Amino acid sequence: MIVMGVESSCDETSVSLVKDGKKVLSNEVLSQIDIHKAYGGVVPEIASREHVKGITMVFDQAIRKAGIEYKDIDLVAVTTGPGLIGSLLIGINAAKVVSLNYDIPLIGVQHIAGHIYANGIEHDMVFPLLALVVSGGHTELVLMRKHYEFEKLGETADDAVGEAYDKVARVLGLTYPGGPQVDKLASQGKDIYDFPRPMINSGDFNFSFSGLKSHVINLHHNLEQRHEKYETADFCRSFQEAVTDVLVSKTKEAAEKYQVKQVIVAGGVAANRGLRKKISEAITDMPVFFPAIEYCTDNAAMIAVAGYFKYKKKGHGDGFMLNGSSRMDLSEEE
Ligand code: KG4
Ligand code: ZN
Repeated sequence: MIVMGVESSCDETSVSLVKDGKKVLSNEVLSQIDIHKAYGGVVPEIASREHVKGITMVFDQAIRKAGIEYKDIDLVAVTTGPGLIGSLLIGINAAKVVSLNYDIPLIGVQHIAGHIYANGIEHDMVFPLLALVVSGGHTELVLMRKHYEFEKLGETADDAVGEAYDKVARVLGLTYPGGPQVDKLASQGKDIYDFPRPMINSGDFNFSFSGLKSHVINLHHNLEQRHEKYETADFCRSFQEAVTDVLVSKTKEAAEKYQVKQVIVAGGVAANRGLRKKISEAITDMPVFFPAIEYCTDNAAMIAVAGYFKYKKKGHGDGFMLNGSSRMDLSEEE
């Protein structure tokens, strides 16, 4: 079964072709990062316009690189939310055109379900499993007892991890998106600042990162005002240690409580080297998987994989009433 995935929820236009929920035939990603960099973050109106400009080319390249024709596609899977509504609608309408033109069933995929299923490309998902979702917009622990069934155990009360990374990076003078740069500098710095580990002993699976973020930013302002010397790399390292301590501790607790068979990490921050190392060292009695780096950040291959499993569960597509929504919870996805 060949599934076409379409993703346009934020600042990446991506189209992918995946065979049987596993074999990636092509995964084209047109990133707008360089355009939004000048503004320090994603500008929704510009994002929509860029999707319109690039999407036809991305479709054609994905088809060409996969070495197939449109008529060979068995299912079109498209991100329906959460995300920027203007951006989402461009991907959804393009997916509808392919579906209608070639009479192919269409299915909508929630973006976070896609991030989770990025793990299915290189590994077989074995249930029950625990997913740590860490992206620019989400931080949550999700229990899956079977394919396409999501139970949220806890989530952030305020900032998502990626959001905290990007805000700290901005104050430290690093360009958008700051996460990868903070990660790189962290490997060169020392853990010398005693930053808080918010909610580490809260006894539940919820998180909070805005206090930690403010703590880092305030200390930075104080040092600047007093003209004291500091190394940006030490800030990055100390911040990263605090964030990953909380993430790893709660993930380990949840994995033990729910007796899962594997832990998977999903979302853009799954690319973080500090997190990958710490979680693999802390959880040794079961496999811990991450997607390949190219499937951590937004891409359409993950949407195609998720769409494949959703279609297998439902047994039918969603039809042409399919719509986008800027807010969409994982629990609405089953
Ligand atoms: O999942 P994603 O591509 O988009 C959303 O769905 O939000 O995640 C993007 C986020 C950004 O905040 C980015 O800074 C962060 O993931 N990120 C990282 C790393 N690579 C990407 N954060 C920390 N370390 C990284 N290596
Ligand atoms: Zn994402």
